[in-house]
This record gives sequence, C-alpha cells and structure tokens, in this order.
Amino acid sequence: MLTAEDKKLVQQVWEKVSGHQDDVGAETLERMFAAYPSTKTYFPHFDLHHGSDQIRGHGKKVVAALGTAVKNLDNMSQALSELSNLHAYNLRVDPVNFKLLAQCLQVVLAVHLGKDYTPQIHSAVDKFMSAVASVLAEKYR
Ligand code: HEM
Repeated sequence: MLTAEDKKLVQQVWEKVSGHQDDVGAETLERMFAAYPSTKTYFPHFDLHHGSDQIRGHGKKVVAALGTAVKNLDNMSQALSELSNLHAYNLRVDPVNFKLLAQCLQVVLAVHLGKDYTPQIHSAVDKFMSAVASVLAEKYR
C-alpha cells in the first residue's frame, strides 16, 4: 500500500518525468530488452535497434499510461482497466515481465535523478510500480 507520503513522492517524481516521456520510455524499454532478452518475444513486429522510432513511440505510450496511473492513485483499477484487458486477453503478457519493466524504469530514474533519487523515492516508486503491475495482472485470474 502506498502511504500518503509515498503518493506525494511519486507525484513529485512524475512532474520531473513528464517533460521527457519519450526519453524515459525509450531508455526503459531499451534496458528491458537488453537486460531481459526474453521480453523481446512480445515485440517481433518492432524494430528493436537503438533509437528506433517504434521504441520511442511505444516508450512514450507506456510512460503516458503510468502518468494516468499517477493521476489516479486512489482508483488505479478503473483508470487502467482497458490496459489491463489488453495485456491479459489480447497480448497475454506473462505478469513476471511487469517486474522487469519496473526494475528498468527504476534504473532509468536513478541514472537521471542521481542523488535526488533517494531511498524513500525508490521505495515509493517500487510500491507504485507493484500496484500498477497488480492492476495489469488482475484480469488473469
Ligand atoms: C502495449 C502500457 C508492460 C507488452 C501497451 C500500450 C500501453 C502499455 C499504454 C499501448 C496500448 C494501446 O496502443 O492502446 C504498459 C504499462 C506496463 C506495460 C504501463 C507496465 C507497467 C508491458 C510488458 C510487456 C508489454 C512488461 C512485455 C514484456 C506490450 C505489447 C504491446 C503493449 C506487446 C503492443 C505493442 C504494439 O504492438 O504496439 N502497453 N505496458 N507491456 N504492451 Fe505494455
């Protein structure tokens, strides 16, 4: 569960991210594909080379969806319902992959925010991404 303080920290981090959605998204995906190559199997139709337009475009969509979640921290289930259907029924993404993407996002934030990425913020973002992952996975049951 995110505490009131966690929510505040996540919202603050997201203000910094929102001007750089393509960069943050593309770097997150590129790290995911590099560090966890099995994730590439979901994107056979994508050009996965560094700097590809498809990675940038998709990264932006993912980060924008996370932004929607940040704006709806108290009713994420509703806010991400369509996305949850998509990942469960159409794409059939194995939920273990959500943790891998979350891990890569944390690395990107840490690299860019440096000392500002405090342990408290790390913990808050971790809880946030776990909450997003459980919403995206809830339709699998
Ligand atoms: C599509 C968000 C995790 C695989 C999408 C879209 C969004 C999104 C916004 C576009 C939906 C649309 O066009 O209507 C997210 C979020 C995630 C997440 C917020 C986790 C926090 C993952 C993971 C994988 C994955 C871990 C696989 C490793 C896909 C695929 C598509 C997709 C294959 C379709 C891409 C295409 O053909 O354009 N996701 N996603 N997603 N996602 Fe996710």
